[in-house]
Amino acid sequence: QDQRIAKISSAIRVIPDFPKPGIMFQDITTLLLDTKAFKDTIDLFVERYRDQNISVVAGIEARGFIFGPPIALAIGAKFVPMRKPKKLPGEVISEEYSLEYGTDKIEMHVGAVQAGERALIIDDLIATGGTLCAAIKLLERVGVNVVECACVIELPELKGRERLGDKSLFILVEAEGA
Ligand code: PRP
Ligand code: MG
Repeated sequence: QDQRIAKISSAIRVIPDFPKPGIMFQDITTLLLDTKAFKDTIDLFVERYRDQNISVVAGIEARGFIFGPPIALAIGAKFVPMRKPKKLPGEVISEEYSLEYGTDKIEMHVGAVQAGERALIIDDLIATGGTLCAAIKLLERVGVNVVECACVIELPELKGRERLGDKSLFILVEAEGA
């Protein structure tokens, strides 16, 4: 397990000063090029969630759309995209969250999930936790039980985990920086 995590960690490329000075960008596209490390990433999540009666994997745009679907297929859950505003064509419910400057929003189709379902939320990375927090609220508003949030990478310095309150967060790799 530690062996797999170490390989995953080293397959993630860090690009300094992207998209702006001072940001150490965690680039998961290089992880996707490493067939073994990419498969191990998915397997580690699948091993954790396969026997948890999860019926919904909710993936957050954009990179939650890369990791979420293979996990959903492997554990026999449906995949529900949580998208940036004005992308989904049907009726949506949305949840706003604050950014460094201003606000953003995520949206989900009405009817994609039912009250009482058990969901896993997937994204590539947790920074401040604002995005995951909004995703949890959105699902809980419609009566869904969020079992856990899972990300490939956590930036612990930003304390996003604290923002999730008592909701549990599973991550594979801790990275430095903000
Ligand atoms: C990044 C990352 C997470 C989010 C984490 O996405 O992929 O989704 O930020 O930040 P937070 O914990 O502070 O909310 P971004 O919003 O840059 O959009 P993208 O995934 O569509 O590129
Ligand atoms: Mg994102």
